[in-house]
Amino acid sequence: MDVQFDFTGKNAVVFGGTTGINLAVADAFAAAGASVAVASRKQANVDAAVERLRAHGGKVSGFVCDVRDMDSVSEAFETVATQWGPVDVLVSGAAGNFLAEAAALSSNGFKVVVDIDLNGTFHVMRAGFEHLSPGASVINITAPQAWIPVRYQAHVCAAKAGVDQLTRVLALEWGSKGIRVNAIAPGPIAGTEGMARLSPNDPNGEGIKTIPLGRFGSKKEIADLALFLSSSAASYISGAVIPCDGGGSHESIRAVEEAGRVFAAR
Ligand code: HXC
Ligand code: NAP
Repeated sequence: MDVQFDFTGKNAVVFGGTTGINLAVADAFAAAGASVAVASRKQANVDAAVERLRAHGGKVSGFVCDVRDMDSVSEAFETVATQWGPVDVLVSGAAGNFLAEAAALSSNGFKVVVDIDLNGTFHVMRAGFEHLSPGASVINITAPQAWIPVRYQAHVCAAKAGVDQLTRVLALEWGSKGIRVNAIAPGPIAGTEGMARLSPNDPNGEGIKTIPLGRFGSKKEIADLALFLSSSAASYISGAVIPCDGGGSHESIRAVEEAGRVFAAR
């Protein structure tokens, strides 16, 4: 039986919530009864997401907003708080990614990803703090690249490592207010822009051999974790960076073990 979560009467805001994994997260909160606001740069993405979320029958808002611009993030929070009241669930998931060898990456190419993923997350946290309800759940969307070095991902590895530490520090600073701050690190998720960019020849992981569970994850599996983390079932979880990756982030350790076995067998 699927676990049921009820967020009726709660307000959720999802930055970067107009497509992909983050939209699935926003959709799950709307389906669970929350009023949901989503924000991203492109009007067309915002409009399409708002239309989809409205199908659940609750209150929905959409904001055109670039997380690199603190003022546009603040404006979105001001509007939500004025119309709906304090924010109970805050998700920061806006991100940019592309494959690029570090030696060929321009200063601006490195900076753009750090600006969106890391500085953008700080802006969302900083502007959102004063609008959070006591007991709010804050979730940052990170990636295993935060702790596993991956070729052609220097910009993302650096940015997401920063997101993880920001998560832990804010859990320390905001815990006394009852606010829990956690991060979800999705492994490769099928049907996403991220995997279309990073795994263009196999974006759904049909030939994947390096994940113990033998497949890419689904957007719903990330959304389910976000619901759990924001529920009373997770009331003592804070400062955690939780991989949701089919065990895939341990594969690099297995590679080292394998190398050890080969060495021992010489
Ligand atoms: C090298 C590149 C590049 C590429 C852009 N740049 N694409 N460099 N290879 N493929 C460089 C540009 O040349 C420029 O540097 C600088 O980056 C900024 O580029 P802009 O196009 O001006 O940036 P902008 O319009 O702000 O767009 C941001 C973006 C874009 C990140 C570059 O791709 C974007 O909007 N992405 C959002 C969607 C997305 O990426 N989704 C996937 C998230 S998945 P110069 O020097 O020329 O000025 C994800 C997965 C993580 O994060 C982990 C998975 C397991
Ligand atoms: P996606 O569909 O491209 O989602 C990124 C979202 O962020 C979009 O809604 C985009 O909308 C928005 N966005 C981008 N730049 C922004 C900015 N400057 N300001 C505001 N919004 C911005 O990608 P996804 O693959 O679903 O990834 C979603 C999240 O999961 C990201 O944090 C990513 O790092 C993480 N993740 C993904 C995977 C995966 O397998 N896909 C794995 C690990 C982690 P606009 O273009 O309208 O701005």
